[in-house]
Amino acid sequence: MMRQRYSSISLAVLYCLSFLFLTSCALASCSGGKAKYRIGVSQCSDDIWRDKQNAELRMGAYFHDNVELKFAAAYDSDERQVQQIDSLVESGIDLLIVAPNQVNTISPAIDRAYDKGIPVIVFERKTSSQKYTAFISADNYEMGRVMGEYIVSRLHGQGTVLEIKGLEGSSPAIERHNGFMDALKDAPGIEVVASLQGDWTEPTAYETTKQWRDNNKDVRVDLVFGANDRTAMGARKAIVEVQGPKAASLSGSKVTSPHNLTTSQPYNLPSFCGIDGLPGENGGIQLVRDSLLDASYIYPTHGDQIIELAVNILEGKPYEKETMLMSALVTRDNAKVLLMQSEELMRQADRLDQLHDKADNYLHELDTQHVINGLAVGIIILLLIVFVLFYLYHLRKIALQHERVVSTLWNMGEAPPTAPEGASIVQNTETALGSYPETDTNNRSDEKSIEAPSGAVGGAFLASFREAVESRLYDSDLSVDDLAAAMNLSRVQLYRKVKAITGSSPVELLRTARLNRAYQLLLTTDKSVSEVAYAVGFTAPSYFTKCFKEEYGMVPGDVRK
Ligand code: FRU
Repeated sequence: MMRQRYSSISLAVLYCLSFLFLTSCALASCSGGKAKYRIGVSQCSDDIWRDKQNAELRMGAYFHDNVELKFAAAYDSDERQVQQIDSLVESGIDLLIVAPNQVNTISPAIDRAYDKGIPVIVFERKTSSQKYTAFISADNYEMGRVMGEYIVSRLHGQGTVLEIKGLEGSSPAIERHNGFMDALKDAPGIEVVASLQGDWTEPTAYETTKQWRDNNKDVRVDLVFGANDRTAMGARKAIVEVQGPKAASLSGSKVTSPHNLTTSQPYNLPSFCGIDGLPGENGGIQLVRDSLLDASYIYPTHGDQIIELAVNILEGKPYEKETMLMSALVTRDNAKVLLMQSEELMRQADRLDQLHDKADNYLHELDTQHVINGLAVGIIILLLIVFVLFYLYHLRKIALQHERVVSTLWNMGEAPPTAPEGASIVQNTETALGSYPETDTNNRSDEKSIEAPSGAVGGAFLASFREAVESRLYDSDLSVDDLAAAMNLSRVQLYRKVKAITGSSPVELLRTARLNRAYQLLLTTDKSVSEVAYAVGFTAPSYFTKCFKEEYGMVPGDVRK
């Protein structure tokens, strides 16, 4: 019964502690809640405009702890962008943000993503298909048209313009060109001397312009319109090279004069206009302020707004299918102010970025702290488990020893195994104690330490002790002194020997013997509980019941049930 009780306690304790341990580990490793939205960003190019936008996209994602961005840049290659979109879709993104390199070439890949149920945000460059969830961009036609009007007024309605277009087949190139040409329709004094094909990059604009200039040395150009600032700067570099530094130093001087020049006639460097109007070092705004460009047009990047749109779509919130971003012309009149403002904005963004890094580090440290805490709790719990198990093992060992001794003593059978026939208790005791130096009965108060007798010696001693106890179990006055006297020992000697052998005191053994006998009587006779109590030396049945319950975990009456 005891054994059962211990093993069920230890099992319960073990379960509780294991549960606690696992819970704390789970808590420690768990980084918390919301499902992540994986958003793929497919950029057609990689340049300062895209860099700014990517930074804003990242910044926008900071405000949503459940957004993860995956970037891909196609470096102006259709095939690469198609592959990248396919592999983004393959990787399991929840939404695709895409700036298609050209209108037609990228559409099939975008359609594939859309057909798989992935929401698609097309931004800034258009696709030929209607398979997209939302479109966000500035109005490229309007930008071309406004720039055309500006150029007409800048040339006072008279002059020559060289246009270098953006990448053929990409929607901003087409729309900017159309807007620009439409603006010139009302200005018959403006002649577009050539519309060269560019591809948004500075090197291509440089090469194309240089070649054209070399072949058209006698054509006067008052103003160059590049489809973006990089294109305008590539053209500028080429023209400065052809016309020489003297002409370059005249940049920005007022352009008036006839359209056709003879090759020998020197002429001023043309003015240059572009589009993008980026803030920061070598951005369009600075180029205008420094008179390297005459004008630019801010082509908004608004990455953070794109992320908001994406999150609204993902979270099923209302959103605009078509968003037109506002924009503005950058000229020498406002470049300084715009630059100051944009620098301030960039500083703020930078601070926000630093703040985010700090918060990130802090969260990281917090995560580490959680893991450490979890581990510490786990270790403490493990130590507790070990301690509790060790303690239970120890208790069990003691209990087993006690059970063994008690059963040997009281339940072995009728006759004590080592008691010689006819021998008196005293003789037995003497036999049992014979191997010990002090048996002087006159010296019963001797307190010298006594080791536990082993083997047969211990058995013989216990048999004598048992006989002494059992012969007077009925006697409620039976005391340890009586038992000691019967065994010819002092009270202290008896206590020590019994304790050394059995781990229990003589009083405890006497009590156990009374209760054992009571148990037997209850099982084998019709005596009432009170009669049994008196028969085994208890003077009060209620006290007997209490002791019985302590020993067997049940009341005497239960034995008969
Ligand atoms: C950036 C860019 C910009 C241009 C836009 C047109 O990649 O080339 O310079 O305004 O793309 O899509």
